Amino acid sequence: MPVETITWKNGKTIYVDQTRLPHALRFVACRDVRTMWRAIKSLEVRGAPAIGIAGALGVVLGVQNSKAKNFNQFFKEICRTSKYLASSRPTAVNLFWALARMERIAKENKDKPVAKLKEILLHEALKILQEDKDACRRMARYGSRLVKTGDVILTHCNAGGLATADYGTALGVLFEAKRQHKRIHVYVDETRPLLQGARLTTWELMHEGIDTTLICDNMAASLMAKAKIDKIFVGADRIASNGDAANKIGTYNLAVLAKYHGVPFYVVAPISTFDLKLKSGHGIPIEERNADEVKAILGHPIAPKNVKVYNPAFDVTPNELITAIVTERGIFRRPYRKSLKKLKAKI
Ligand code: MRU
Repeated sequence: MPVETITWKNGKTIYVDQTRLPHALRFVACRDVRTMWRAIKSLEVRGAPAIGIAGALGVVLGVQNSKAKNFNQFFKEICRTSKYLASSRPTAVNLFWALARMERIAKENKDKPVAKLKEILLHEALKILQEDKDACRRMARYGSRLVKTGDVILTHCNAGGLATADYGTALGVLFEAKRQHKRIHVYVDETRPLLQGARLTTWELMHEGIDTTLICDNMAASLMAKAKIDKIFVGADRIASNGDAANKIGTYNLAVLAKYHGVPFYVVAPISTFDLKLKSGHGIPIEERNADEVKAILGHPIAPKNVKVYNPAFDVTPNELITAIVTERGIFRRPYRKSLKKLKAKI
């Protein structure tokens, strides 16, 4: 991974402003919860696991100067902060998972003084960050078993180090394959409207010395028709108990194309991305974002000002199109309702 995407130093969260990449590598010192909310909303911090970590650290920032005198007062502040952060982006369940963990650890320590509780919250947020690092490495090792030398791989959006605390999910698999001296070539979808593929994924892959080719999103079908893609690896923002997986808009297109052309389609995601109380992907809330993101490319207008726009940030890939789901607890296959039940039992 080229950089440390998100970390904690001396009472501040330090994160990479991903909206500036690949042209500028800018680290932001975030001292308050409002800045953290804005960073998540504007995609300065993005990618499901990174959003979860940002949420947990956001809770710490939100209550670190609290003057609460007792647990009840302090817990109200935690809940208010958590609710505020939860309103930033709706789809990546990692955010809600991390916020719930922060509330839970506070409740479990309600007998402690407020000063001690602040320490406990920071400890929990850093534990979430460390667990994500470990999960990245384990997913990478499991997933690399699916990659063989000579493979040509397609990926969408950015599921790399920038989207996590460490190595990434889908890209982690590719980094690990490279580390094992497997020769791979990766095609990267540019990922309109916000170009996470073009701006971030190419940057990460090239930094690792991986043979990388950028394509526009609408070129994937023609590559598959020419039998030029062996496998597809993507990340996820929320996976339901039947294996339906929400990921960046355009992922579903790829999965349909993959089925038609007989290309294996793999999703790589940590446990924190599973929402096993959801029966299917129909229950996943899909974020709709500002029309300007579609009417412009990186701030440059490309369409009539008043044109109507539809801008969902995610889509849901039905489980039957997913060949396997790689997690830090192993590789899960269809029927997912059954295999993920085993995962649930282990959590
Ligand atoms: O809108 P974004 O950039 O936060 O969307 C991110 C994705 O869709 C990623 O593929 C997903 O979060 C997996 S990240 C390991």
